[in-house]
Amino acid sequence: MEFALSAELERELDAIIARYPNRMAACIPALHLCQRANGDWVSPAVVDYVAKRLDLPAAHVEGLVTFYSLFNQERPGEHQVWVCRTLSCALRGADTLLAHCEKKLGVKVGGTTGDRRVTLRTAECLASCGTAPMIQVDQEYHENLTIAELDRILDRLLYED
Ligand code: FES
Repeated sequence: MEFALSAELERELDAIIARYPNRMAACIPALHLCQRANGDWVSPAVVDYVAKRLDLPAAHVEGLVTFYSLFNQERPGEHQVWVCRTLSCALRGADTLLAHCEKKLGVKVGGTTGDRRVTLRTAECLASCGTAPMIQVDQEYHENLTIAELDRILDRLLYED
């Protein structure tokens, strides 16, 4: 399916392009904007759109999308849970948190619950090592996490709103 931005987001994209010294440098912020506008994932149509708009090879845009884990290559669930698994978090129980998430959500890392409410992911250091272990849920950090608190967070994601 074809992808297009609204007139307002087109103006935002123009402002992004104008802010950078060249179009290649504008590619990551352009992808973030288009991902947001596309239900939080970068479809092949979004890759084509960004490539055309920035006059870059589609392979370059695709390379960024596949390299950076903050770009979703599939449509995620309504909420995304990122479990940090780098050293500080690993030493303070990230594996246990992750196993608990997999069990409670009934999915493995990368998977989305059957009702499409939650996608489970892992992340490399989220720069909150002093409060390890931690997870990110959508845009929010949850730090110094215990299994009991994780349970409450997952319950809210699964059963509320
Ligand atoms: S290791 Fe988890 S936030 Fe840095």
